[in-house]
Amino acid sequence: MQTLWSAKTEIDDIAKKLNSSLYMDFRLIEEDIKGSIAHVKMLFSKNIISESDENLLCTSLSALLEDVKSGRVKISDIDAEDVHSFVELYLTDKIGDTAKKIHTARSRNDQVALDMRLYLKKEIIHIIDDVIEMINVFVNVAQKNIKVIMPGFTHLQHAQPVLFSHYILSYCFMFKRDIDRFLLSLLHTDVSVIGSCALAGTGFDIDRQFECRELHLGEVCLNSMDGVSDRDFAIDFLSAAAQLSMHLSRMCEEIIIFSSTEYSYITISEQFSTGSSIMPQKKNADIAEIVRSKSATVYGNLLSMLVLFKALPLSYNKDMQDDKKFVFDTVDTLKLILPSFYKMVETIKVNKDKMRQSAELGYLNATDVADYLVKKGIPFRDAYKISSQIVFYAQGLSVKLSDLKLSDFKSFSPLFDDDILSFIDIENCVNRRKSEGGTSAISVKKEIRELKRYVKKIKKKQEMRHECLV
Ligand code: ARG
Repeated sequence: MQTLWSAKTEIDDIAKKLNSSLYMDFRLIEEDIKGSIAHVKMLFSKNIISESDENLLCTSLSALLEDVKSGRVKISDIDAEDVHSFVELYLTDKIGDTAKKIHTARSRNDQVALDMRLYLKKEIIHIIDDVIEMINVFVNVAQKNIKVIMPGFTHLQHAQPVLFSHYILSYCFMFKRDIDRFLLSLLHTDVSVIGSCALAGTGFDIDRQFECRELHLGEVCLNSMDGVSDRDFAIDFLSAAAQLSMHLSRMCEEIIIFSSTEYSYITISEQFSTGSSIMPQKKNADIAEIVRSKSATVYGNLLSMLVLFKALPLSYNKDMQDDKKFVFDTVDTLKLILPSFYKMVETIKVNKDKMRQSAELGYLNATDVADYLVKKGIPFRDAYKISSQIVFYAQGLSVKLSDLKLSDFKSFSPLFDDDILSFIDIENCVNRRKSEGGTSAISVKKEIRELKRYVKKIKKKQEMRHECLV
């Protein structure tokens, strides 16, 4: 193996294997080349290298970039320690000594930090696209099923009736916050650290703003030690990813429960379920299960990263080489589970009759009986007691509240009138909840309008973000 560093004695073979990261960081080769092109241009702009050197270096780096993109250059072409060594050694093979000037006023320490930022910036923007598409899908599913009534649960016990659309849109607000968290991680990622060099900056008269502009990054980091040591941006990303995967996992759990025979509220499309090799009747919610399980991977990556950086002294340490594993794995996982998840939701069949029947059970309208009495002037706590007595009475007869007669209600309070039965009709219970953010169809329509407005706005901003990618 060729290295960029020299020592009196060759590194031990097994240590060499442990030390190298090419198998992992070759993925950063496009970012590494783009960073090098910006660096070369800057060196020339400050007269640190000549115009002919700049021409040769830029042309050969651009050619290498094309060869990488077309797959003509392979990881096995150079036996290098890492991607940064790969690029420099490859170039040296191609153009000779001029290639050796490329590492003037930089170090692999600021190079790797830059590569990670360029890579993650691009991936965060793509992941945000996926989350936006997911919100879109959810809004469409909500719109298609806007009036479907289901039982709302607390403690997984029947609580109050809600609209299925209200339930599904609740996730959109979590996803909106997920986007906010990804945007914060993007802000912290979008920083130019090149020029921090090994840790202390450089004695060369470099132009860091030039490189920042060339790479379309947001700002220049102002402390070289922070520049090479900081991976907070990656931790921000992993933390945003962990919360997003938690949201997916929570809903997957519900999809699994709601699609079970006992519930049968929804049917998962065959495109997103699997059969059993022994039980012919089975249709398993494997995709929901595997998305649920991936939250473990994503949490693990966040935790591994936090532990990796715990007590790590400034500035660069080789431990940091391992950060890529956690970041890449999280990016790959999200890019796989997000579209699988929202496509599964998009194709779900909503069994509205089953949901509606279920909403009739479990005395979901008991609170409404109390609310009825409150409207007649009874303090809520007293109204609650009367309602619970009526529920016990109905339970004793094994009937629903709506099966009781006006005389039954009147035996608990003379304030009940013949409008009580329509007052506790499940549909009326839902549509009465017109409070802002409540479950009535009117409030849900407002939620949909808000979310559509949000999607439109954020899509425009995303277009600008895409244009800023190098
Ligand atoms: N492969 C290294 C990494 O990913 C690059 C930086 C190496 N720097 C050093 N001084 N050994 O972190």
